[in-house]
Order: sequence, then structure tokens, then C-alpha cells
Amino acid sequence: MINIAVLGYGTVGSGVVEVINTNHESINKKAGEEIRIKYVLDLRDFPGDPVEKVLVHDYETIINDPDVQVVVEVMGGVEPAYTFTKRALEAGKCVCTSNKELVARHGLELLEIAKEKEINYLFEASCGGGIPIIRPLNSSLTADEIDEISGILNGTTNYILSKMQAENADFEEVLKEAQQKGYAERNPEADVEGYDACRKIAILSSLAYGCHVNYEDIYTEGITKITVEDVKYASAMDMSIKLLATSKKAGDRFYAMVSPVLVGKDSPLYSVNDVFNAIFVHGNVLGDAMFYGSGAGKLPTASAVVADVVDCAKHLHRNIMMNWSSKKLDLMDIKEVVHPFFVRMKGNAASDGAAAEEVFGKVKMISIPDTEGEFAFITEPMSESSYGEKAEKLPQIITRIRVRA
Ligand code: HSE
Repeated sequence: MINIAVLGYGTVGSGVVEVINTNHESINKKAGEEIRIKYVLDLRDFPGDPVEKVLVHDYETIINDPDVQVVVEVMGGVEPAYTFTKRALEAGKCVCTSNKELVARHGLELLEIAKEKEINYLFEASCGGGIPIIRPLNSSLTADEIDEISGILNGTTNYILSKMQAENADFEEVLKEAQQKGYAERNPEADVEGYDACRKIAILSSLAYGCHVNYEDIYTEGITKITVEDVKYASAMDMSIKLLATSKKAGDRFYAMVSPVLVGKDSPLYSVNDVFNAIFVHGNVLGDAMFYGSGAGKLPTASAVVADVVDCAKHLHRNIMMNWSSKKLDLMDIKEVVHPFFVRMKGNAASDGAAAEEVFGKVKMISIPDTEGEFAFITEPMSESSYGEKAEKLPQIITRIRVRA
């Protein structure tokens, strides 16, 4: 019997209880042991909910119970999750989590404690919700040297961008609707400003490249400036705008960034719509692979958490090695990163196109029927710094979006 304690009975915590209750027979069979929820920790009471039988309000009950072998931390946020996780690991209890904020910030330290104690700190649900991606990076793709991870790692922003493009709708209007449907938080900042995707790409990159990627070093731009005109141009070009979280090798160094990117129909990321997530991985011997599925939500996230509990049960006193070392990955300055840029400019192509070409060199003009007083073009690939210098010479520029080459 494996006794577990679930910290937090919110969306994911109640999902974990539901998944274990729904699939208990097959889960126990796969774990080779019975998985029993001994405690659920929450400050709140849940009158009438069967969880009442195992509900506790004091973490000391859990940490001091030697029968608890696995702690499921699904509280979110850094504190008290960090303190609770550290204490659990130090006490020799495995920890499984969906907490991307905590893993991005303290994952390295917590993994080291787990290794020293010969137990496990597992976080499959922290990136891509129910999509298996941590385990593939950690065990299936070990023959490869990964040189790119590009992911649609945030369901909320993917829903907003897909809807804006499908309905030629404004950001604010779609955000409001997403909030009403529960796809966006009342305070949507972490999602729409790209911070959530930034933490996830930092975690995936640290595992894939075997070095530590500090999420605070990653250039991050959200989707709040994307307009209905931008999505109209995207549709006219047979492209879609995606919030891409990318880390990629360029020469012998890596860069990492989160920003809206125009993706063409030839990319598998083009048709990843609504709340779905996808993670495109390129390996030097594998070539391309893409992992697609439900990237958020109660049951998909709980499914990944419970799979980690099963893995803990199968490796109770054996550390599953993870390729995340303390050596810091020295990221390239974003100014050196090269891609084409889509540029919208006031004026019209016939009279102002020459000025654009004088500054940017050869460009591909884009025209759409219902946008007056402006025109647009795509540049040849150029560095971010070169784009910045050129753009300064053209105050008529309205906006720019990076293009996936
Ligand atoms: N807010 C996140 C998203 C939840 O939309 O993807 C899952 O991490």
C-alpha cells in the first residue's frame, strides 16, 4: 500500500482525487501497489464532500506521519508550496507536482534533495498539462541532442488567439469571453503577458539541454498588443499567430524567447487551436517530433500528476535521474537572434513601399482589402538588433510580429 497526501483541494487537487477514485483498479495494477489517499490538506472545509473523511488543516499531521510515502503538491504558488515540498523531500517522502512556478524557481534545488535522499521529485503536469513531455525528454529522447523546443504552452492565450483569428475579434472582447467561460483567470496577467509560458519553456529547456535555464533570463513578450488587423493579415497570408515559447540552438549557442509568432501552414504548430497545447521538438538524430493534447484543465492535469504518483510507487527508493544540472546555460543575447519580421506601416504600398525597401532591402508586400491607410510586408531574415536599427528610421511603422522561418 502506498499512502499519499494531497496538498490543496482546488481544481487540480480535486481532479487528483477524482482520477484516483475513477481509475483506482487500473492505477493500482500499473503501480503494483494499492494507492490510497490518506490525507487531503486544505484550509477550507468541504461539508458533505466525501473528502471530509481524509481532510486535514495542519501540514504537521502529514509531515509527521511516517506512513505517507508520496506528497502531491497541487497548491500552486511559491509559498508555502516550497517549504512544504522541501520538508517532505528532506523527510524522505516523494513529491509530485503540477506547480510550474515552483519548479521553474526551485526545481534544481528540489531535484538535488530528491537525488541525495534517493527518492523522486516529479513534475510531468507542470508543462503541457496532460501531454507527456517531461518523461519523453527524460527517457525517450535520450539518444538525441535536442536543438529546438518550440511550444504552444499556454491554453488561455492559444484560445484567445485562435478565437481572435477565427472571428476577426478584438483581444479585449475575446479575453472577456474567455474569462466568462473559465478559460482565463480573473487576473489574466501571467497568461497574457507570457510569464506562464516562460516558466514552462525554462523547465523544458533545463531538462532537454542538461543545464540550468533561469526563467528570468528569457525574453518574454505577451499577446496584449495583437490586434484584429494583425489576425486579418495572418489569415490573408495563410498563417496563424501563436504565442510560441522557443529555445533553440543557433550556431553553438542557445537562445530562448516567448513572443507572438506568425506560423505558416507548413508547420505542425499552425493548426493547434483553442485550449490545446503542442510541443515541437527537434533532435539531431530524431528529426522532428510533436507532442499534442490537452494542455490545461482539471482532469488532464490530474492525469499527469497521478501518472507521476504511479512512477513514484514504482521507484520508491530509487531516484529517477534527470538531466538538469546546476551549470547555467549561457543564453545568447536576444539582439543576435535572426528571423524574418512581418511589419505593418502607415501609408500605402504604391507610394511608401519604396521607403520601406530602401531601409529593409527586399521585402514581400502583403495587401488585404479592408485595411485603409496602411500596408504590410515581410522582411528577409535579420537579427533583432538590425531590425531595431532599421525600424527606428521609419516612424510610420505600426507594429511588427516575428515570423517562424
Ligand atoms: N493557465 C495555464 C494555461 C494553465 O492556460 O495553460 C495550465 O498551466
